Amino acid sequence: MSSSGVTLTAPVNIALIKYWGKLDETAIIPTNDSLSFTLSQDDMCATTTAMTVARGVKSKFWLNGKEMDLGHPRIRAVVEEVRKIAKVQGTDETLLDLPVRIASINNFPTAAGLASSAAGYAAATAALGALYGVKGDLSRIARIGSGSACRSISGGFVRWIAGSTSEDSIAVQVAPENHWPSLRWLICVVRATPKAVGSTEGMRRTIQTSPLMPARIASVPDKISAITKAIQERNFRAMAELTMQDSNQFHAICLDTFPPLFYMNDVSHRIIDFVHDYNRVKGSLIAGYTFDAGPNACLFTEQENFDELASVVEALFSDGVETDFVKGMKPERKVDASKLLDSINVQPIKGGIKYAIGTKLGGGPRKIDHEKFSLLDANGELID
Ligand code: DP6
Repeated sequence: MSSSGVTLTAPVNIALIKYWGKLDETAIIPTNDSLSFTLSQDDMCATTTAMTVARGVKSKFWLNGKEMDLGHPRIRAVVEEVRKIAKVQGTDETLLDLPVRIASINNFPTAAGLASSAAGYAAATAALGALYGVKGDLSRIARIGSGSACRSISGGFVRWIAGSTSEDSIAVQVAPENHWPSLRWLICVVRATPKAVGSTEGMRRTIQTSPLMPARIASVPDKISAITKAIQERNFRAMAELTMQDSNQFHAICLDTFPPLFYMNDVSHRIIDFVHDYNRVKGSLIAGYTFDAGPNACLFTEQENFDELASVVEALFSDGVETDFVKGMKPERKVDASKLLDSINVQPIKGGIKYAIGTKLGGGPRKIDHEKFSLLDANGELID
């Protein structure tokens, strides 16, 4: 027996107010709400194919072409949870009992530390959900794969409501993908060695050792209310200030963890200095930044400033050799930034940023109906 299965793509999301810390490590119940921005899948996405195969054939899971252990607790938990819900909703049990094959790839470098697990788990959850005909909320299933993945189940601006149980810890859309069309992102891939401490271990260590963490947790509800209002009003200044402050607070908590977690590096710090100085020179807050658990900078601005921001970042941080510095959504034109650069008091770091990806707000997972995009052949084998 063979089947064509389900193929779909899911987006990357970047938190404006960060998730960092769990109350329950198995169910992944976070210590606080978080709020993110879903990036366009035209520029960055994970693609997953899921299909059932004949009885007796081995279930398998491939991530970026490499076979993974389907017994991995988080992968297993996602597959079991989708099946459990499908069963309750009346899906034919013979379908649910069949072995399953899942393949997932990212169209951006996984090793670059760009929220790849979020997009991957969201895609896998949505694909399995479609395969088994699950209706209703999928965010709480994606959450048990990787916390931040629950926010990739929706487009636009998304809030993960911490809740207190596996049922009420869900992600909800705060504003749709067309709410703020002028917003632009420049994801800067910083030259660095692979990160030493992963998010899961890092946040466990923070919960156990950071004396500042309770104060952060207590401050999040007000930040979520303020940033939701800023988003609803399309108030760039307020949104950018809250985002930058939360990123800085998150990294302060990491430094307060013992032994400390250093996710940003010298290039990251220089980029922060640059954004503040750029805003000073422009006389208005027109660019912002946020950093996840790694050195890459996620810069944002509005469309009218995107070409200039991209040109200045390239002038200060590219190696000058790479001709295709901005990938994804490219600037419409190169801006002569030489006058501006004279006023900016930041020393360049040549080659500090390998390349950047331009992008904008995007929607939630998208089903791909055409079989030619399937990552598995009709027998469930990986297509090279
Ligand atoms: C810094 O979702 O990767 O990106 O739930 O343990 O899989 P696990 O962690 P993960 O953590 C992401 C942390 C962050 C902030 C955020 O995305 O909110």
